[in-house]
Amino acid sequence: MILTREDLIRYLKPGNPETLQEIIDLAHRVRLNHVGNKVWLRGLVEWTNRCAKNCYYCGIRRDNKEAHRYTVDFRALEEAIDTALSNKFGSMVVQTGELSGEQFVEEIGEVVKTIKSRSDNKLGVTLSCGEQSEETYRYWYECGAHRYLLRIEASDPELYSRLHPQDRFHEQKNRFISLELLRKCGYQVGTGIMVGLPGQSLQHLADDILTINRLDVDMVGLGPYIPHHRTPLYELKELLLPAAVRLELTLRVLALVRITMKDINMAASTALDVLVSSGRLMALRAGANVLMPNLTPADYRKDYFLYDDKPWLTEALDLVKKISGQVRKYGLEIGSDEWGDAPRFAERNSKKTTTGKLL
Ligand code: 5AD
Ligand code: SF4
Repeated sequence: MILTREDLIRYLKPGNPETLQEIIDLAHRVRLNHVGNKVWLRGLVEWTNRCAKNCYYCGIRRDNKEAHRYTVDFRALEEAIDTALSNKFGSMVVQTGELSGEQFVEEIGEVVKTIKSRSDNKLGVTLSCGEQSEETYRYWYECGAHRYLLRIEASDPELYSRLHPQDRFHEQKNRFISLELLRKCGYQVGTGIMVGLPGQSLQHLADDILTINRLDVDMVGLGPYIPHHRTPLYELKELLLPAAVRLELTLRVLALVRITMKDINMAASTALDVLVSSGRLMALRAGANVLMPNLTPADYRKDYFLYDDKPWLTEALDLVKKISGQVRKYGLEIGSDEWGDAPRFAERNSKKTTTGKLL
């Protein structure tokens, strides 16, 4: 379905329950037709909260000296892998702050190899470790990672510049270059944004949706912005839309991305559960088809605070049990023992257009 910028702005506008229901129902139908009724599980491991960057919105930014820094150990990783396997998860996601250097690159390579060998290649591996060199992306791919998430955060250059320090480590153009490199290395590529940022307009969000379409990614992960009290952006909290509006806006963006992109994978982000306890469930009804239960060992999990009030106490297996019952009423079921790749990726490769430009 082709939607113009004006159509998108109209459908994004909060406050009209009819248009909300209309796009959620359409997104659900598109989802069933193009990616089926499965909800794919990815066991999330937040490997380290060390980060060299200083994004204004994020609780684990370098200058937050209050954050207690950790790196998970390999024994705990093995336990998480075993939990994923015994509960029929098809994949794992390894997320970190953005670090560079030989030691980090090697370490993540080992993490990937451990997941692949311990699971006998049963588990797919998604990485979310920020902007890296082509060589690093290639190395991790060779270790066995085959999907990579790197959010653009916001497509508008001016808004992006208000969210990040003005230095060479936070240049927007490098995001786009990284996404190109990831595609070139053979990854299934994912991107996304935050919804409800201070100063973000409906026009910005419509342009985000158009940009994500133009990027022709295989996966999308987007969620609401949630303030963190130890970040510079917290000072703008008076400009924040009420939680209910941020929730509605996020659901509208999710539905519109599903309607316009159809055969991609799309995650129900954890941040939604901060706004309302059924947030992720609502996302699964609005077009999302991926759930990422948190398998980070509890001792570490409490320190991976990108934002305040993170529902870190929700145990992964309790979440899966609860959601698997709840989604049944929408005709959905939890997928098991399969990687659950996005049909768009296979489709693109079969057409041999892998070199297709991202922008
Ligand atoms: N609220 C919501 N999402 C956030 N992220 C970082 N900080 C916040 C926040 N305060 C998201 C960013 C990043 C991902 C790892 O977490 O979009 O890409
Ligand atoms: Fe680091 Fe990512 Fe947080 Fe930015 S958003 S400070 S890169 S962890």
